[in-house]
Amino acid sequence: MVTIAPSILAADFANFGAEIEAVEAQGADWIHVDVMDGHFVPNITFGPQMCAAIRPHVKTVMDVHLMIAPVDPYIEAFAAAGADILTAHAEAGPHLHRTLQAIRAAGCRPGVAINPGTPPDAVRPVLDLVDLVCVMTVNPGFGGQGFLDSMIPKIAQLRAWAPDIHIEIDGGVGAGNARRLVEAGADVLVAGSSVFKGGSVTDPAAYGANIRAI
Ligand code: DX5
Ligand code: ZN
Repeated sequence: MVTIAPSILAADFANFGAEIEAVEAQGADWIHVDVMDGHFVPNITFGPQMCAAIRPHVKTVMDVHLMIAPVDPYIEAFAAAGADILTAHAEAGPHLHRTLQAIRAAGCRPGVAINPGTPPDAVRPVLDLVDLVCVMTVNPGFGGQGFLDSMIPKIAQLRAWAPDIHIEIDGGVGAGNARRLVEAGADVLVAGSSVFKGGSVTDPAAYGANIRAI
C-alpha cells in the first residue's frame, strides 16, 4: 500500500485550509508541509504558527519537512503546532542523533531527509532512531523541478538496510516515475505540482484524478 502525501507547497497559499480538505476528500493519505528558512534552502515558506493554523484542517497525518538550520531550537514549537511526523535534514547540523532524539522526546515521529548530494550511508547510523527516511529527488527549496533519476539506487539501498521504516520520496514525483519508485522500495510518495495542477478548491475532482494517476 503506497501512501500519497500531497505537498501544500503547490497549493493556494491564501487558502490552505480548504486546499487540505479538498485533497483529503479526494484521497490524500498524508499532508506534506514544507518549512523553509531562506538559509538552509534558498526559499522561505512558513513556520510553526502556520502549522498550528492548518492543523485543525488535517484529518490524516501532518508530515512536516523541515528545511531549516539549526533545527533543535524549533522542535518544541513544531511539536506544539501538532506535527505528527517531524523530519530534519541530515545536513542541517552536526548532532543528528541529538536532533532525532529530541524530536521523539517532543512527541513526534522522527524522520531524516537527505539531499541529492548526500549518500545513504549518512543516515545508516540513525536508522534505529527514525520512523521515516526522506530521499530528496530534487534539490530542496522549490516545487516543480525535474526528478533526478540517479537517486533511485539510494532507495533500494535504504530499503535493504531498513525493511520496516517508511521510505519517502520527495521531488518531481508523478505518474511517470511512481511505479519505479515503489519497485525500488519507496512506500510514501510526496507530490506537489503533480497533484495540484489543473485543479482548485472549487473544482477538486482534478486533484482526485491526479492522485489516482500517481
Ligand atoms: C521541495 C519540497 C517538496 C516539493 C515537491 O523542496 O521539499 O516537498 O513540494 O514539489 P514537486 O512535487 O512539485 O516537485
Ligand atoms: Zn518536502
